[in-house]
Amino acid sequence: MFNLHYRLERNAIGFVVAILVVASIGGFVEIAPLFTIDETVEKAPDMRVYTPLEVAGRNIYIREGCYACHSQMIRTLRDEVERYGPYSLAVESQYDHPMLWGSKRTGPDLARVGGKYSNDWHVAHLNNPRDVVPESNMPAYRWMSEKLLRTKDLGGHLAALRDVGLPYTDEMIANASNDAIGQANPDTDLAAGVATRYGDKTYVALFDADLSKVTEMDALVAYLQVVGRLTEVAHQLPQDEVE
Ligand code: HEC
Repeated sequence: MFNLHYRLERNAIGFVVAILVVASIGGFVEIAPLFTIDETVEKAPDMRVYTPLEVAGRNIYIREGCYACHSQMIRTLRDEVERYGPYSLAVESQYDHPMLWGSKRTGPDLARVGGKYSNDWHVAHLNNPRDVVPESNMPAYRWMSEKLLRTKDLGGHLAALRDVGLPYTDEMIANASNDAIGQANPDTDLAAGVATRYGDKTYVALFDADLSKVTEMDALVAYLQVVGRLTEVAHQLPQDEVE
């Protein structure tokens, strides 16, 4: 065995071939699971894409580095399922570019935070986490309630997401800016367009309770309320088989 290695090291071409063989075994082990991706990713017929307001919120989540303290991936372990809810499925991240699974939990996992709290709770919490959770060490994001959301380029964001495979239609892209304003203003004509394009279940609300302007706070809360709720398939699976 060692004799073979000794001889191989003295034969440059043989050694290169041996390196290629070993490296390609590693490569194959990494790539092979992708051949079965069609069978391993669950089917979710009720899955919808993020609305423009939710895309904007997701971009803010990325910009602020929320993923540095929060994961969005519940593992198939009993303590996780009992604490956070149904474990995450691959299909739930299919529209996430980039994915935000994260690897650090200074704060809790957020994969099931959608619908867990009211909009008012999120606004109060983001304005000053200590007001609702006294022992919290999460930073405050007060300025978001003041900062107007930039909506005019949201069509471009949707178009970019379409380029990487998301099923946004031309109509969704053309109306992106209006749909973002409509989702945060339930009593306007623009709100109806959001339901037509993204489905009746889309959450249209005055997220930060301020009618006069659409702020970054509206977008971030709209996003938080849909995390883990683009499809309900995970909620329909039995959870009692986890270890
Ligand atoms: C320095 C780490 C840190 C950062 C950065 C951070 N958080 Fe947190 N977050 C925490 C901690 C710790 C908690 C638990 C205490 C609390 O609820 O405030 C928490 C709790 C939360 C909760 C409540 C979760 C639950 O299930 O109770 C939400 C929602 C949340 N954070 C959202 C965000 C968002 C959105 C951002 C980015 C704008 C963010 N966090 C950035 C540390 C952080």
